[in-house]
Amino acid sequence: MNPFRFQNPTALYYGKGQLEQHLVEEIRKYGNKVLLLYGGGSIKRFGLYDKVIHLLREGSIEWVELAGVEPNPRLTTVHKGIDLCKTEGVHLILAVGGGSVLDCAKAIAMGVKFDGEVYDIYQRKAVAKDALPIGTILTLAATGSEMNSGGVITNWETKEKLGGGSPYTFPKFSFCDAENTFTVPRDQTIYGICDMLAHCYEHYFHPTENAPLQRRLIESVIKTIIENARKVIDEPTNYEARETIMYCSTMALNGMISMGIEGDWANHAMEHEISAIYDIPHGGGLAILFPHWMDFVSQEKPERFADLAVHVFGINPAGKSTSQLAAEGIEKVREFYRSIEVPQRLADYQIGSENLERMAEQSVRFGEIGKYRKLNKNDVLRILQAAL
Ligand code: NZQ
Ligand code: ZN
Repeated sequence: MNPFRFQNPTALYYGKGQLEQHLVEEIRKYGNKVLLLYGGGSIKRFGLYDKVIHLLREGSIEWVELAGVEPNPRLTTVHKGIDLCKTEGVHLILAVGGGSVLDCAKAIAMGVKFDGEVYDIYQRKAVAKDALPIGTILTLAATGSEMNSGGVITNWETKEKLGGGSPYTFPKFSFCDAENTFTVPRDQTIYGICDMLAHCYEHYFHPTENAPLQRRLIESVIKTIIENARKVIDEPTNYEARETIMYCSTMALNGMISMGIEGDWANHAMEHEISAIYDIPHGGGLAILFPHWMDFVSQEKPERFADLAVHVFGINPAGKSTSQLAAEGIEKVREFYRSIEVPQRLADYQIGSENLERMAEQSVRFGEIGKYRKLNKNDVLRILQAAL
């Protein structure tokens, strides 16, 4: 294992009734004026907005609102939020939505306390020294943003999508009630599953020696996602399945299963370049890339893919070479993606070869990507070409 320090300060409230009981009490720890941040209006349609407003009123919490955070949230919206927080003297940002709203809140929170352009933090030209407190009410199981400090912002003008964060951007509290995910549309449910699964794969493929418990923890999350995926797709109001999937998404990216290991993360780096240009759903891009990345990397390093085949997909290793097992495991990965009817090729999003070179170039803008197997620009290009 690598030496590590682990601290996750988010107070996590899971399950029914928690919001009514604890929202106001949590907000009051930080002040009495919030920025209520949300997306394109789904929270109004399924009633959560009214519930939150009611609780704020009852608790004498003042609020100002910023609506319209885009899926793949944009820097322009971040700027609006920073201005609003500054002029209104907001004490806490209450983000109600999916990963995009939560990520936007994190960027605004850093921007409010940053003397300069917040995007510099995402471009790795600066680091955040402080942030406004954030609280979240999650409505979509996918990113794990409810219990981690990271966030991803798109600069639509420069066609860049960059991740960033700081120790100050862990949400102070997050409310996760699976009922708030009942109305997530079928396609977004599927993309969410692909994203949480991708986070598990990013951790699973690491170069660190001696991490047997981490391996088993990650395998458990992967198996639980696969077991419950069909249920949440077919029965969107199945509370037990939604709750299990939501818990998987939180666990996949809150640091609990990945202590002491260094995950790969090449697929996320590549996907962000695709959605920066084509604005496609993050989970859809990942589902397309992973099998091709696996084909490419397993040629040289089949060992962990063989682990995946045996320990996740239950393939009998008797009489099979590591490479054979790896290939069978990767076929199972493909089979799962096919079974949940997620796009298989870039062409499914009308993406052709026109920007592959640029995406490959941009993927490695900070240097080679990937920890299990390092990828240079040419490697990325080959993977993208295979995914066309
Ligand atoms: O905007 P509204 O109207 O709320 O609609 C949203 C949006 O259209 C809708 N939705 C959310 N909850 C709903 C709902 N519709 C009905 N009922 C509900 N309960 O779903 C659509 C997608 O929402 P979005 O927040 O964009 O999805 P997701 O949670 O998948 O977040 C994606 C973003 O997170 C980033 C991605 O790159 C992408 O920008 N990521 C963030 C990470 C992190 N912070 O740790 C890690 C991830 O790897 C990822 O990169
Ligand atoms: Zn992701």
